[in-house]
Amino acid sequence: MKAIGVTPMQANSAHLVELDKPTPAVGEALVRIIRVGIDGTDKDINEGKYGQAPPGYDFLVNGHESLGVVEQVGEGVTDWQVGDYAVATVRRPDECPNCLLGESDMCLWGNYTERGIKGRHGYLTEYYVEKPDFMLHVPKEMADLAVLMEPTSVAEKGIAQAYRIQERLYWQPKNAIVTGAGTLGLLATFLLRARGLDVYTMARTPMPYLNGQLAEASGAHYVNNKEQSLTALAKQIGNVDFIFEATGASQLIFEAMAIIGNDGVLCLAGLSSSSNTLQIPADAINMELVLGNKLIFGTVNANRRYFQSALQDLANIEQKWPGLLGRLFTHRIQGLDNFAAAFAALEDKSSIKVTVEISPQPQ
Ligand code: BGC
Ligand code: ZN
Repeated sequence: MKAIGVTPMQANSAHLVELDKPTPAVGEALVRIIRVGIDGTDKDINEGKYGQAPPGYDFLVNGHESLGVVEQVGEGVTDWQVGDYAVATVRRPDECPNCLLGESDMCLWGNYTERGIKGRHGYLTEYYVEKPDFMLHVPKEMADLAVLMEPTSVAEKGIAQAYRIQERLYWQPKNAIVTGAGTLGLLATFLLRARGLDVYTMARTPMPYLNGQLAEASGAHYVNNKEQSLTALAKQIGNVDFIFEATGASQLIFEAMAIIGNDGVLCLAGLSSSSNTLQIPADAINMELVLGNKLIFGTVNANRRYFQSALQDLANIEQKWPGLLGRLFTHRIQGLDNFAAAFAALEDKSSIKVTVEISPQPQ
């Protein structure tokens, strides 16, 4: 079967590779892949910034956001049937205490693998085999949107963790700033809007801008940070309760640290792919953090529970703002052979979610 592989740490190395079609072992299902979403991580990997091939391979198959349909079930698999829609998670645990507790997204030892990213082939291929522990059922009516479960799970985790950590005090956030209006920033915007917060979504591009329009369609305010800085926005808002950071841009991150309100939270979810250094007013930032009991935390990946809540919340968002999520799909690339067009679409400023359509979705 066909797959898209990259040679890790080598720029622009994406190429077609051939793999044997897998057969499900006892306790595994065989899944035919319908579509795969690609994102900044795939771009970084294809730019040679990170990525690790599985043992015994000199390439890594990309892709960690998938939707598929079960084609065969191995012996001992009871809760899956041929024809079921499936989404599979990204990370596979090691044996650290958190991984053993089912919290591989909080891995302590770092020996986990990630599909399409670190030491395990991803979903930009025709089939995969997997254990039900790492698969989620998708109801038919959610199949069109289900490839968004992975990026949504990352936003779910960040937001859920913020609320959980803040159980240390009385915390009922009224407002939030989301920095970044790509797929992750928009999904975080929708999740926070669905919770009833007053949301300000900030990015570099001036309106008219589809991403900004989608944020506003959920009732958020779109802010172009060239017109209004984060600092100026904070003055307008008052006490900033929550910031969800989805750009990885260090300049913005340190500005965010300086403007969080009392008892506020800065959730860092953006990966930085450059190695900038900055001059920052470090003492002033520290003073404010200490005196305001402010919280800054990092979050990455998501375990199965967050994929489950992502599915529920996507359904909820679809009900609240019908058709909004569908508008994230700006570029659908047909077939694995067109991988070059898929990576090119990621560079296109007008792209939000790019998918590679691999096989037909059953009706
Ligand atoms: C994926 C995460 C992954 C992270 C770092 C992100 O694009 O959504 O699941 O943990 O990259 O590898
Ligand atoms: Zn671990």
